[in-house]
Amino acid sequence: MTTPPKETALEQRGAEGAKMYSPSTARNRDLIRDAFLATMPQEGNILEVGGGTGEHAVHLAGALPKANWFTGDPDETARASIAAWIAEAGLDNLQGPHAIDVAARDWDAVLAAPYDGVVSINMIHIAPFNAAEGLFAGAGRLLRPAGKLFLYGPFSRNGVHTAASNEAFDQSLKSRNARWGVRDLERDIAPLAQKNSLRLEKVVEMPANNFSVIFRKN
Ligand SMILES: C[S@@+](CC[C@H](N)C(=O)[O-])C[C@H]1O[C@@H](n2cnc3c(N)ncnc32)[C@H](O)[C@@H]1O
Repeated sequence: MTTPPKETALEQRGAEGAKMYSPSTARNRDLIRDAFLATMPQEGNILEVGGGTGEHAVHLAGALPKANWFTGDPDETARASIAAWIAEAGLDNLQGPHAIDVAARDWDAVLAAPYDGVVSINMIHIAPFNAAEGLFAGAGRLLRPAGKLFLYGPFSRNGVHTAASNEAFDQSLKSRNARWGVRDLERDIAPLAQKNSLRLEKVVEMPANNFSVIFRKN
């Protein structure tokens, strides 16, 4: 019996050698960049986790010349793609890939802290909830005071899906993996923030029923 490949993305990605292309990133990277630039630190050390193909990192680091952007992913194929994108981009302020798994207890040992920003795009709903728990615990440990955590993805609000399409998406995630699912901003995520010295600073409505959500370290 062969083991199926570990599922890390929901879409069919293109590839050119190790470099992968994500169709969703082509659609949303400008919007995410603009939300990031409007809400997050523009200088200092930024740690991205669950970087996937590496395309967001190239796009964001390119827009933030005064920031040092560290990206990576626990998935080996993703790391090969990130390495290829980093090599091609040739940006002085973009480093990686790290292999941080935020669900691992000691993930903070990988890189030097404190960070001005921690970023996770489209990750916490496509991972067991302990990834969200580990992400917030790590952000609480690693962000400097007033540093910020940036999340992008779908969320329900106060127990209610924001669109029928998100409810269907939640069901399809759960049918792929019972531990995945659209997270509820107030019921699931806000308690994690509170527990880890972070407070919700801003919620930005994004197209296709997604949100950029920004938390600030106390
Ligand atoms: C749907 S992909 C999103 C990739 C990229 N951020 C994007 O938006 O295109 C989710 C990524 O999260 C990563 N991931 C899953 N569990 C994780 C964990 N516990 N810690 C860090 N990354 C994780 C996966 O390997 C995958 O690359």
